Parts: sequence; structure tokens; C-alpha cells
Amino acid sequence: MTTLTAKRILVGVSGGIAAYKSAELVRLLRAAGAEVRVVMTPAATRFITPLTLQALSGHPVRVELFDAGAEAGMDHIHLARWADAVLVAPASADLLARLAAGRADDLLTTLCLATRAPLLVAPAMNSAMWAHPATRDNVARLAARGVTLIGPAEGEQACGETGPGRLVEPPQLVAAVAGRFRAGLLDGVRALITAGPTREPVDPVRFLTNRSSGKMGYAVAAALAEAGASVTLVSGPVALEVPDRVRCIRVERAAEMAEAVRARLAEIDLFVAAAAVADYRPAETAPHKLKKRAERMALPLVRTPDILAEVAASTRPPFTVGFAAETEDLERHARAKRMLKGVDMLAANRVGAGEGFEVDDNALLVVWEGGQAWLPRAPKPQLARRLVRLIAERYRERREGAPGTPASTGDEKDTA
Ligand code: C5P
Repeated sequence: MTTLTAKRILVGVSGGIAAYKSAELVRLLRAAGAEVRVVMTPAATRFITPLTLQALSGHPVRVELFDAGAEAGMDHIHLARWADAVLVAPASADLLARLAAGRADDLLTTLCLATRAPLLVAPAMNSAMWAHPATRDNVARLAARGVTLIGPAEGEQACGETGPGRLVEPPQLVAAVAGRFRAGLLDGVRALITAGPTREPVDPVRFLTNRSSGKMGYAVAAALAEAGASVTLVSGPVALEVPDRVRCIRVERAAEMAEAVRARLAEIDLFVAAAAVADYRPAETAPHKLKKRAERMALPLVRTPDILAEVAASTRPPFTVGFAAETEDLERHARAKRMLKGVDMLAANRVGAGEGFEVDDNALLVVWEGGQAWLPRAPKPQLARRLVRLIAERYRERREGAPGTPASTGDEKDTA
């Protein structure tokens, strides 16, 4: 089955009798898992109503370039950036001419010019128009610019003629769009990741926390999404932007983080614990601000739930990945912690004196059963991508019960 899970497809519809097929196209794209937005040329609205495509895509259909209301919601540049692919189906002779000329005289052509996403066009027109040297010229220019042309198909036409000019059928259009996306390493995998610190309240204005910035966890969330996983991030309080395509659940206390994870445990394939969860919390949270009185004061603390260990020990555990911040003897501690928590993979980094927390670079020693890899110092986003590659290899190895592909190339060394 063709899958386009979480891919964002902008469907452009231009004026022609085949426009009615765009209804089926939008339906199939959504059935394949894509998010769809539709833009029509004014001429297209004479063949099929925007309302039909709005109902099928689940979003208002855009027609006008200068529609103040719609521009306030998602302006045209935002829409051009939003798309992972733009598919114009049907593309009329006029639309091909305007695209070839680089015009931006309506919303659809403006988007085609403004987007950096791949552009696919499926022409549909009378066969004489398709054969005309002007159209041949336009098609050659578009192809030379890297535009993907799908069809047209040959056969009987609405105008009574027979020949090339029919719109390629919607299932083949969907397959052509799917073919533009390289399979991600973690396509279809449901991942849950914790990140950031937790805050354990002492009283209404004070809390215990730590120096975690959340940067590594957020970078891993972004890299997982990039690899095709559907990602939910359970985040403690941090000053970071949620990565594109990542759902974020914000929490404060360890107990809330644990609850958010438990609630989703049954529906995930991969769990990455990157949060710096407080190990202890105040036994009681004072209802009012504590007053200073005595010279000394003791604050009784109790353990918080170990989220990672709990997930790893659950009845049908997902593939689990933990982090460990160590100040010395990285390998020994990493191996011991992996065993102790019963996790599939553990990534250890050295902390203290400008390392680990609150910095933009990091280095990781990653251990799993029967192997390890050293990921040398690199900016966190780069390091996260390497880590995700290792996770994907081991994840597939476990799922398929077969040895994974050899460890990734690059500067990490697989010392297994
Ligand atoms: O035991 P330690 O805190 O060193 O283990 C670190 C790993 O365990 C990290 O992956 C962290 O996210 C996870 N952890 C957790 N819940 C806790 C403590 C740690 O998930 N209460």
C-alpha cells in the first residue's frame, strides 16, 4: 500500500473537465496518511466546487491570492513552505504555459514559484493542445527545471477525440507522489521521547530542578521526525521551540511526566528517555510560601518514579533508549546502567566543566547488547541524527530478528 504518513501535500487544481477527479485524488492522498491543502485556480472552481474539496481535504480551499482572511490564517509564503510536495492535477495547457513562464498571476502559480518543495504536474487537455509546439516547448522547459511530469495518459477524451491528454488516474498520481519521498529509516514508527528538566515544587514559589536545557532531547525529537517517525515529545520546562512535526505535551513534575508516558505506553514502538528527571521530590509541597524562621531547616525528600526503568519493565515494552550523564568511567557506568534499567540502548555523555548540560556540543558513548559506538563531539543536532541512525539499525534488528545493516558510515566507529 502507498503510504504518505504525515506528508504535507499541496494539491493545485486548474480549470479543465478532469478537475472532477481531484476529489478522488484528495480522498486517496488522505487515505494514504497525507495532510492535504487544496488551492484552485478561479477557472477550476467552474468545474468542481471548493466546498467539495474542502470537505475532502478537511481544510478551507484557497483560490485568491489576496484573501485577507485566509492570509491571516496561513499566508501564501507559509503555505509554500508548509508543503513537502506540490501536485498540480489537472494542469491545463494555460497553467503549464504560466508555470513555464515563471508567472505568479494567481495564488497557485505564486505558490509554485515560492515553494522549495518538489513540484509534480499532471497535465490534462485536448490532445491537439497537448501536441501543439507551444505546449511541447512549455513541457520541455518545465522538465529541464526539474518539474516532474506525470502523464498525460492516452485514451478517449471528454471532447470526443482519442489520444494523449487524459489525466493520469488518481491512484497512479498518489503513487507518483509517494515515489518522490525516499523511505525514512523510521517510517511509520511511533516514538515517544521525554526531554528537559522537571520541577519539583517545595512550595507555591519554589522548586527543585537541574541544569538540563532540553537541547539534546529536542534535537533527538527533530531527528526522529526527520527519519519518518511520528513523534510525541513530553517536555519539562525549557526555552526551546518545538521541532517541526513533533507533538509536544508540556509537564512540570516527574509524576506528571510519568503519567503522560504511561498514558501513551500501549501505542508506541520506541521510547527515548532524554529528560533529566529529578530523582527526588520534596515529600510535601507546602500550601503557602515557607517562611524563614530557624537557622537550619531540613527538607525531607522522596524518590520520584523512574520512568525509563518502568517503561523497560512493562509487559510489552517498546524499544527503549536511555541517557546517562556521568562524570567518570563512561563505559563501565553506561554498561552497568543499561543492565540495571533493562533498556535496549543507552547513550552516555560526560558532564561537568562545560560538558553535557547547557552546551551546544556533546559526545556520546552508545552501548547496547553486544555492541557499542562512539559518537565524537559534534553539535547536538548532528549528534542526534547519528544517534537516530544507530537507534534505527538496532530497532530494525530487534523487530526483524535479523542482524541490522552495518553500522553507519561517517566518523562514528562501531567498536562492537
Ligand atoms: O538513573 P539516571 O537518572 O542516571 O538515568 C538516566 C536515564 O533515566 C535517562 O534516560 C533519564 O531520562 C531516565 N530517568 C527517568 N526517570 C527518572 C530518572 C531517570 O526516565 N526518574
